[in-house]
Amino acid sequence: MIDHFREAANALQRAACAVAVTGAGMSAESNIPTFRGAGGIWEKYPPHEYATIEAYNENPEKVWKFWLELVAQLKDSKPNPGHYALAELERMGILKAVVTQNVDNLHQDAGSKIVIEYHGNAKWLVCPRCRHRDPLDLSQHGDSPPYCFCGTLMKPDVVMFGEPIPSQPLVEAARLAESCDVLLVVGTSAQVYPAASLPVFAKQNGAYIIEANTETTDFTRTITDAFLHGPAGETLPHLVELIKEGE
Ligand code: OAD
Repeated sequence: MIDHFREAANALQRAACAVAVTGAGMSAESNIPTFRGAGGIWEKYPPHEYATIEAYNENPEKVWKFWLELVAQLKDSKPNPGHYALAELERMGILKAVVTQNVDNLHQDAGSKIVIEYHGNAKWLVCPRCRHRDPLDLSQHGDSPPYCFCGTLMKPDVVMFGEPIPSQPLVEAARLAESCDVLLVVGTSAQVYPAASLPVFAKQNGAYIIEANTETTDFTRTITDAFLHGPAGETLPHLVELIKEGE
């Protein structure tokens, strides 16, 4: 039987350019709920009511209240051993970058230096008109959604449904997916595009795909070469140990 952990460790050891793509499962062990599945955020807050740009513009108070709850949860979260394992792989010179769909800043908090934030960062607000950015300070921002000094309703600096991915992360992530020879996909359900196209794109360009997830996804039976089954906070540190043993 193939030892997927060993195969993955060997592939990373040999990699000229390894990249990670992460999703909400990466932060599940930091007590941040995922979006889909039982107990997921979208179960209580349907995305068409709380996560589209149209919903925000039509009912900013309602969406803002939801957002404050989410950000309060993020504020107290800390990186888990999975985040530290990816930071360690970067320090070892193996991982060139993390492309994350998460907006929680936990990769940076764990010490990862090159982090492409595909869906933005919840620590910030942005003005859709003049692009002015302000930090989101829970102690200062009340129940009413904030307005920019230019008079426009500000929004969390995250990608809502109905909005495009900002061009810089879009281009950088595509370039990384095209040039990497190993792609490590962690804790994503592979449901949301264009992020879900990055591993497919990498595979088409010849990359070896390692997937770390507690469940199988559409990737598992189509593009995954090595499947690391289990919580990322356990599987990724184990992977790092195996790489160190093999050095
Ligand atoms: P999802 O909530 O769709 O999927 C989370 C994935 O993590 C699932 O495949 C789980 O099996 C897996 N998982 C859960 N716990 C895990 C653990 N401890 N270790 C490893 N895997 C685990 O989250 P995303 O795929 O990130 O976008 O969702 C993508 C996008 O959909 C989000 O960025 C967000 C959302 O709508 C926007 O808001 C634009």
